[in-house]
Amino acid sequence: MENFYVRQMEIHDIFNVVKVEVATYNTPWPQDIFFRELVENTHAHYFVATLDDDVIGYGGMWLVVDDAQITNIAIHPSYRGHKYGEKLFKQMIDYGVHHGMKRLSLEVRESNTVAQSMYEKFGLVRAGIRKNYYTDDGEDAVVMWVSM
Ligand SMILES: CC(C)(COP(=O)(O)OP(=O)(O)OC[C@H]1O[C@@H](n2cnc3c(N)ncnc32)[C@H](O)[C@@H]1OP(=O)(O)O)[C@@H](O)C(=O)NCCC(=O)NCCS
Repeated sequence: MENFYVRQMEIHDIFNVVKVEVATYNTPWPQDIFFRELVENTHAHYFVATLDDDVIGYGGMWLVVDDAQITNIAIHPSYRGHKYGEKLFKQMIDYGVHHGMKRLSLEVRESNTVAQSMYEKFGLVRAGIRKNYYTDDGEDAVVMWVSM
């Protein structure tokens, strides 16, 4: 039986997290960004989604007092469409609420209707557009947020 589990990201996970990044994005975050987030950023909280102990996804947020900002969430393409993203996002929200989060916001590509649809399931709504937000191709970002 499959064994899906979400836990906090540790430094030894970075190698496998970058594999998810590379499989997901044209301009993936390199290892040193994750390293700095884990080691230097006291507001950062990162999680990995594991299946039978293999890292199949990850998510991160910055939590400053009661405001949380999702920095990223991704499931490896081979494992999408099985509710793992939703389970990971729910556990991140539960973690945030447990640590005092009152508002959650994020930016998502205008074209990324899959992620927007998942966020809407958790009550996030569109709050506005940041024009030319993505530096690699100039795509606009949709800002979404929810109040707890
Ligand atoms: C967004 C992402 C994390 C969702 O993870 P996932 O495990 O594939 O999604 P789930 O199976 O948990 O589905 C959750 C919801 O997402 C939406 N969704 C997932 N796949 C979808 C698809 N192919 N088409 C439309 N909506 C979809 C639906 O709302 C779905 O709920 P439903 O099944 O009740 O309709 C994943 O698609 C991903 O890694 N995408 C690339 C990275 C990314 O875009 N991250 C967001 C950056 S802001």
